Amino acid sequence: MPAPEASVRNQTAGIVGAGSIGSAFAIVFATAGHSVVVQDPDAGSLEKAQARVATSLRELREFDLLEGSIEEIASRIGYVTDLRQAVCQADFIQECAPERLELKQPLFTEIERHARPDAIIASSASAIPASQSMGHLDSKHRCLVCHPGNPPYLIPVIEIVPAPFTDPDIAEKARQFFAAAGMSPIIVRKEVEGFVFNRLQGAMLREAYCLFRDGVASIEEIDSIVREGLGMRWSFMGPFETVDLNTQGGLASHALKMGPAYARMGKERGQDDPWTAELVERATAERRAALPIDDWQARTEWRDRQLMALLGHRRRMAANQSTDTAAKAVS
Ligand SMILES: NC(=O)c1ccc[n+]([C@@H]2O[C@H](COP(=O)([O-])OP(=O)(O)OC[C@H]3O[C@@H](n4cnc5c(N)ncnc54)[C@H](O)[C@@H]3O)[C@@H](O)[C@H]2O)c1
Repeated sequence: MPAPEASVRNQTAGIVGAGSIGSAFAIVFATAGHSVVVQDPDAGSLEKAQARVATSLRELREFDLLEGSIEEIASRIGYVTDLRQAVCQADFIQECAPERLELKQPLFTEIERHARPDAIIASSASAIPASQSMGHLDSKHRCLVCHPGNPPYLIPVIEIVPAPFTDPDIAEKARQFFAAAGMSPIIVRKEVEGFVFNRLQGAMLREAYCLFRDGVASIEEIDSIVREGLGMRWSFMGPFETVDLNTQGGLASHALKMGPAYARMGKERGQDDPWTAELVERATAERRAALPIDDWQARTEWRDRQLMALLGHRRRMAANQSTDTAAKAVS
């Protein structure tokens, strides 16, 4: 990965929309040393955003997750109702308005009108691709989606999703901008609705709704199976590494043993995407490049130590919580 250019630091960022995502991005950008102007047409939303930023900065400090002084970081953030003021000086503009195409399209027209010609214009959209929301702009070559998790100052990944019209240099500059801010940017290779994050989340949610609908498990039981089961490993490895380590012989062996059962479950839901031999071969080649089979045993031992550390952390958190609750009950 190329080192971030010096020009990625000390920039001016404009944030359009001061809700959950806009106020959280203000923290990401200000802690990275940028000057930030947050805009929202609703003054009440700006007031709430300012209060939320102050609280989050204090909490980040309590958890030892903040470098620098709270006052200095907060002083880098300005709050305005006027869109022009937020974007006219910005090097990087992050749109965080509601997920409605009919709202985002004219908003991007306005942003383009006031932005510097060299500013990057990014949308936080959860599912709407830039082709739909920004394809009508004259300068669409500098437009793309940069989709965060919620809140972006705690969830490091950010999907950089260029449209076919986005200049690849712009996607790379966006990647460097977020990497320099301490995030984990991934450039998504093809523009699809929902990108990768929400497609994965959607796959699980679709099945969870079906299981709940069919009376197989309650909402709490499904949440518990993820919280106490699947999610434990997913907090430090992805689904491919998980199954690669679950089966002697790795991913290929897992696909051989479990592929037909998963194909039947998919068919039950009207999906017909079997893991073909060619597909499994390509996936296996990527996994074996990342983890040679000779290192497989050591990695499973690493996984187990990660789980031990996680379990220890969860038990300590639960014990602290019950101490806090008991202290509150006494006072
Ligand atoms: N909340 C999430 O989990 C999440 C995660 C990733 C991405 N996103 C995406 O980020 C975007 C913002 O989501 P959110 O959860 O922060 O929404 P939100 O409802 O919390 O905030 C939206 C803000 O936009 C403001 N707004 C309305 N019209 C505006 C306009 N014309 N110009 C500027 N601001 C305007 C509203 O006053 C509000 O403060 C959406 O596209 C959403 O899909 C959300």
